[in-house]
Amino acid sequence: MISVKVAILGATGQLGSDLVETFGEDAIPLTRRDLDVTDPESFKILNELEPEVIINTAAYVRVDDAEVEVEKAFQVNAIGALNVAKACNELNAINVYISTDYVFDGAKGELYEEDDVPNPINVYGMSKYAGEVFTRNYSKKYYIITDLPTSS
Ligand SMILES: NC(=O)c1ccc[n+]([C@@H]2O[C@H](COP(=O)([O-])OP(=O)(O)OC[C@H]3O[C@@H](n4cnc5c(N)ncnc54)[C@H](OP(=O)(O)O)[C@@H]3O)[C@@H](O)[C@H]2O)c1
Repeated sequence: MISVKVAILGATGQLGSDLVETFGEDAIPLTRRDLDVTDPESFKILNELEPEVIINTAAYVRVDDAEVEVEKAFQVNAIGALNVAKACNELNAINVYISTDYVFDGAKGELYEEDDVPNPINVYGMSKYAGEVFTRNYSKKYYIITDLPTSS
């Protein structure tokens, strides 16, 4: 069986901890203390770990607070995603960015599809969409994964 080293950023979070369990021995769990996505220096830890895939579940997820903590939300969700993209490129690793249905406005009224154009209507959604754009435009190899809303 092929083994792939998968670094999971935000490993203490809801999704992060599930992924650590799912990937088992292949998982390299990294908490915020190990690697803070807003701090480019802290990515040095990846040089010795040499992951082939990096799953970025690290996020600012407090939707209501984001309306007043705009900079914090963008620092983690957008600039953090840019830092992860650059680190992945240096390591030649696949970048997996976890996005959210908040990038859509929900007005479509039916199932969203991959090609639908995002239109975030709050700071949280905008910061996550900015993270998507950084991921897409800066990563050599990437996936963007999201849950899709069905209606408004
Ligand atoms: N939960 C949902 O319903 C849902 C739905 C759609 C999409 N998503 C997306 O799924 C992803 C994970 O969400 P979640 O529900 O698992 O969130 P969560 O439980 O709040 O986990 C977020 C993780 O990110 C870490 N983190 C925060 N700031 C960080 C930083 N600067 N550097 C490194 N790590 C940092 C947190 O660590 P600390 O605890 O130490 O702060 C925590 O471990 C997010 O991108 C979110 O947008 C979630």
